[in-house]
Amino acid sequence: MTIRLGDLAPDFTADSTHGPIRFHEWKADRWAVLFSYPRDFTPVCTTELGAVAALLPEFRRLGTRVIGLSVDQADAHRSWQDDVARVTGCTVGYPLLADPEHRVARLYGMIHPNASPSVTMRSTFVIGPDDRVRLSMSYPASTGRNFQELVRVLESLRLAEAHEVVTPADWRPGERVIIDPSVSDDEARLRFPKGYEAKTEYLRFTPEPDLEAAASNGR
Ligand code: BEZ
Repeated sequence: MTIRLGDLAPDFTADSTHGPIRFHEWKADRWAVLFSYPRDFTPVCTTELGAVAALLPEFRRLGTRVIGLSVDQADAHRSWQDDVARVTGCTVGYPLLADPEHRVARLYGMIHPNASPSVTMRSTFVIGPDDRVRLSMSYPASTGRNFQELVRVLESLRLAEAHEVVTPADWRPGERVIIDPSVSDDEARLRFPKGYEAKTEYLRFTPEPDLEAAASNGR
């Protein structure tokens, strides 16, 4: 199955290092990151799991739950977590799903037969509070992911959700954002009291709006 942006993230039940998990129930109405990796006890994956563990406080700050998956069994995940903690200094404080029969992998298109028919690739999904897929990425087995990028994307998605803004190339939180082109100049003057700079009629930069202000405005 191919998952496209905007699709409902398929629900499933699977065993995990935290016991059986029903995905939508576990996620509830929060943001979530679901990522797969090829195998337990492999070098790049060890560094990836540690990197995600180190970012857990950031994901929590962004109201985001994180869950990993591979074709290994939950017992193998549990033994390997000790290696991850020893090598990276970070405890895997998030669940790892066991998908030995590739049930979840098939639902999410995590196995790419031309790359490797038997293991999950480095697939990543960001799923919104409405259970819709907001980002999907596939990385080759040879390249460990930059999980900081997910934090950056979540910051951008949350801003876009609260205000009618989008974020430019290489944007970092705190930098100026772009007013969505669907917003008229008259509306922009009302909605963005800090003002904006128009580079062209469709590219208008404004200081990053305040997420809390959006919440108190009921948006
Ligand atoms: C790794 O995680 O190190 C790895 C996994 C599959 C193939 C090659 C490397």
